[in-house]
Amino acid sequence: MSLYIKNVKLKSNIILAPMAGYTDLAFRKMCQDFGAGLVCTEMVSSKALHYKNKKTEDLLLSLDGESPRAVQIFGHEPNIMAEACANPLLSKYDIIDINMGCPAKKITSNGDGSSLLKNIELAREVISACVKATNKPITVKFRIGYGEGENIAVSFAKMCEEAGASAITVHGRTTAQGYSGTPNYEAIKKVKEAVKIPVFANGDCKTREDAEKILNITKADGIMVGRAALGKPEVFSEIVFGEIINVNKLEQIKFHYNTMLKHYSENYVVKYMRSHLAFYLSGRYKNSKALVELIKLNSTAEVLEKLDSLFNKFCKI
Ligand SMILES: Cc1cc2nc3c(=O)[nH]c(=O)nc-3n(C[C@H](O)[C@H](O)[C@H](O)COP(=O)(O)O)c2cc1C
Repeated sequence: MSLYIKNVKLKSNIILAPMAGYTDLAFRKMCQDFGAGLVCTEMVSSKALHYKNKKTEDLLLSLDGESPRAVQIFGHEPNIMAEACANPLLSKYDIIDINMGCPAKKITSNGDGSSLLKNIELAREVISACVKATNKPITVKFRIGYGEGENIAVSFAKMCEEAGASAITVHGRTTAQGYSGTPNYEAIKKVKEAVKIPVFANGDCKTREDAEKILNITKADGIMVGRAALGKPEVFSEIVFGEIINVNKLEQIKFHYNTMLKHYSENYVVKYMRSHLAFYLSGRYKNSKALVELIKLNSTAEVLEKLDSLFNKFCKI
């Protein structure tokens, strides 16, 4: 049975997590081609959109074939968030997700991201304002609570549904936990029992077995996968279809660079891609000194040339 978020049909129930600094248009395309049912931009500041920040606007670039696609926004001012939802730069996106889960200090100290877990009435106003501002489905991604041991997931989920959210994603950790400890899948199960809108479980899904276990415990409608896809977009093929694909890593990395270069400046791409490179090469690259050299290079042509020779010398493909 196909999974829908409001009127948007997903290609599968395993979806890509928004990841700042990683879920660019090329990465999303690869994840989607390998079976991700929905892909999402990294979080985009509603305030920066209000001020027409060029770098922020660039984060909204998207490839023509990307479908269905979600954009994630963050902020805590209902009017500014609503304005972002109606921004023409978001028009190509099918779904707008609201970030209520980011634990980073620079985000929570402004009242954004997961700090909205501490202000449920403001969170409700933000969601309602976004729902009123657009016909697109509004979804919300949040953590189970803010402080150590806190679990407000069920009441927060119910509030999201009442405020008009079309789906929710629950990361089974608190803000205090960051990324440590194991996700509380039982808490996600309780959320699923409490609301009618689709629920996506999030946290530590790396394999098809993990996915089966998480769906079994939570009975969620789907799973959101983040870190397991870094350096390995083909993980979606394994999780969705049970098919392990032995990709040509060098070709994959080249596709990523070349697609980025079609849309962004050389200077941006060479720096931006360094963190992706570290993931692509981790575990397979046998000479870390050479990796350090690679990351120091200041032109993509040099990087690609060096990668060619390094893969020939050291890497299994
Ligand atoms: C590098 C990085 C960047 C992230 N950026 C975002 C973001 O922009 N928005 C968001 O909601 N979550 C963000 N997250 C959290 C992920 O979406 C996800 O909730 C988290 O990684 C847990 O899922 P996983 O165990 O499958 O990775 C980020 C996580 C990482 C590791």
